[in-house]
Amino acid sequence: MASQPKIDSDVPLGPLNTFGLPARARHLARIDSLDDARALLEAGALTGGHQILGGGSNTIFEDDVDALVLRISIRGRRLVAGEHDAWLVEAGGGEDWHGLVRWTLERGWPGLENLSLIPGTVGAAPIQNIGAYGVEMAERFDSLEALDLVTGEFRRFARDECGFGYRDSIFKGARQGRWLIGSVRFRLPREWRPNLGYQDLARELRTLGVAQPEPRQVSDAIVAIRRRKLPDPAQLGNAGSFFKNPVLGADALAEFRARWPEAPAYPQADGSGKLAAGWLIERCGWKGRDLGPVGAYEKQALVLVNRGGARGADVRRTAEAIRSDVRARFGIELEAEPVFVGGSERRRP
Ligand code: EPU
Repeated sequence: MASQPKIDSDVPLGPLNTFGLPARARHLARIDSLDDARALLEAGALTGGHQILGGGSNTIFEDDVDALVLRISIRGRRLVAGEHDAWLVEAGGGEDWHGLVRWTLERGWPGLENLSLIPGTVGAAPIQNIGAYGVEMAERFDSLEALDLVTGEFRRFARDECGFGYRDSIFKGARQGRWLIGSVRFRLPREWRPNLGYQDLARELRTLGVAQPEPRQVSDAIVAIRRRKLPDPAQLGNAGSFFKNPVLGADALAEFRARWPEAPAYPQADGSGKLAAGWLIERCGWKGRDLGPVGAYEKQALVLVNRGGARGADVRRTAEAIRSDVRARFGIELEAEPVFVGGSERRRP
């Protein structure tokens, strides 16, 4: 049984969130294992509420946090099994996501390369089912181990128990914070084919003169694209894409496309379609525009950035102004991707 981890008081959260918001945690405990968290639960340390914090790349702190912040530092990466058709790889919830991607590629276990350079931790990846360049984490997911912070039970979740969807899972929404993800297992098929369906990626590899890319070259190309298009949080605070790409049903999509034939739209098998929120936001004149210290990035309008000294309320104000303009012009409701946290509440704009 792990001893109870130390609880620090009045901890600045600015360095622990990629938007660089200056909130403070009344209490914070560093969690190195699920046993650590269970010891806190059994000692009654979570009765005043808790807030799980991974890499802080998807969290907007609106206020100081009264609940106990659990900073996840669960480490470890290992090959669980080399099965006849796949490698089964496991990583601790506190491991850096991109570090895991590169580690698997170095060992010759491809499959995660399209998800290169996504900020955040391994344990946060399933919560919003991270995705990029035509691949979603769910496609490479095997299972995860979590601690139920209500009952104190350990539980393994298989893929079909996680309710994965576009930037969605059962670990999000009303149940966010109930399960603490200790480790995640990935199934990486031995039979590898590059996934080059995404136009930007195919173009980048053509420019590099690579016709039949190795997994590491796909990763390198994605790193290059992301570095060009997306701001580095170490230079300019941000939380990646700030809104989800809206999904329209078949009828609404047809109506939208008749009105805006030039808009990018990605039809899905069931007739529905995803629109590019970045395009909608740019069309409303927001690309490169600021409201106070928070604006839409000049190279990718879907990313909100901290121009310096922003507080959570500034993020909310800019996000609301953008949502309201997109609603007025296109009749479309944008939904924020990051979670807003403040005081003892958790909210979404
Ligand atoms: N676009 C504009 N103006 C903009 C931004 C985009 O017109 O300011 C247009 C682009 O020209 C393109 C389309 O919108 O036709 C899509 O843009 P992009 O390829 O940059 O991708 P995205 O849909 O904006 C999504 C993910 C990203 C992921 C990329 C690449 C969401 C919410 N975002 O962005 O994920 O990296 O695709 O796969 O699904 C993240 O979630 O934090 C994230 C960065």
